[in-house]
Amino acid sequence: MGPVAEAVVDLDAVAHNTRLLSGLAGHGKGQGAATMAVVKADAFGHGVLPVARTVLASGATWLGVTSITEARQVRDAGIDAPVLAWLYGTDDDFAWAARHGVDLSVSTPDHLDAMPPGVTVHLKVDTGLTRNGVAWTDWPSLVARAADLERRGTVRVRGIWSHLASADDPGNPSVALQLERFEEALAVAAKAGLEPQLRHLANSAGIVDVPAAHYDLVRAGLALYGVEPIDGVVAGLRRAMTLRARAVNVKRVPPGTGVSYLHQYVTDRDTTVVLVPAGYADGVPRLLSNRGAVAIGGVRCPIAGRVAMDQFVVDAGDLPVALGDEIVLFGPGDGAEPTVEEWAAWAQTNPHEILTGIGARVPRTYVSSGELPHG
Ligand SMILES: Cc1ncc(COP(=O)(O)O)c(C=O)c1O
Repeated sequence: MGPVAEAVVDLDAVAHNTRLLSGLAGHGKGQGAATMAVVKADAFGHGVLPVARTVLASGATWLGVTSITEARQVRDAGIDAPVLAWLYGTDDDFAWAARHGVDLSVSTPDHLDAMPPGVTVHLKVDTGLTRNGVAWTDWPSLVARAADLERRGTVRVRGIWSHLASADDPGNPSVALQLERFEEALAVAAKAGLEPQLRHLANSAGIVDVPAAHYDLVRAGLALYGVEPIDGVVAGLRRAMTLRARAVNVKRVPPGTGVSYLHQYVTDRDTTVVLVPAGYADGVPRLLSNRGAVAIGGVRCPIAGRVAMDQFVVDAGDLPVALGDEIVLFGPGDGAEPTVEEWAAWAQTNPHEILTGIGARVPRTYVSSGELPHG
């Protein structure tokens, strides 16, 4: 028997999603936008190196990460595609980034001060998300200083960018307001003498629903991994991750049997209970206790009682289940298995948190119809 629980990543699905999103980006404003694949957080839990190699072979030309440590992981693996990193304090190893051709985001005046000679930057303006990005009031002076540094040849300003707050909520007025502000920010930068090659604003939902936000580059995260970014809008993405395990205990129990900690599930008939070797340490939310479900042999079965750290129990009824049988915790949604969106709903969270929460001890394995990208 293989690993007791594993996350199987379908790289064909990642490739399909990349092609689809790159196609949509190509139809935006202007000449069409390039695609940045956001591979932060270990590619949303899917494994950064196989995903990075797949997206770069399928239409993405940029990689997006948060920390410089994440950028290092990509460069150390020999991937030399353009990379943008965007989340750090002011004392990180920016010189390493400059030496290794990793573009850096500048989100405060202090960050601009901390940039070493030879670095290429993207200036991030806060257009209304009120998270990261240069404060609106600091923007005119920051672009003036950046233009000055560029004239002296100290830094190169390749990009101006921002992030949308509500593109996954079609019609939300904040989207139009952020677009307006972004245009204003670009105009202020142009007046200061900056004409960056890359203006970028759209995330997955923006790619699908806001063509006016595509500009020169789009940043695809969640959608790359196959989750539709807007409820009720089907772009045609394919979910990439299947979380599966093998039954490690199967037994027949009578009615009235209390199951798992505190016996919060009690059987109401003769039934088969199946033990699944994955728990909250592996990313199975405790909120799925008595609420979630899995698929066994193409049949959906409820989670019985409390999810524990390493394991949980499923009520399989009269299904013929044997030790070692496969249990699909979530998957593409082509059959009886739940999707990651259903898991997110049961756990009162978003699919991002489920995917990035799959624990480190769950091995990632890869399937692909072509040659597997190594690493
Ligand atoms: C700055 C930035 N751009 C793009 C993305 C990708 O967003 P999404 O997953 O909605 O496509 C993220 C991820 O959260 C992000 O932080």
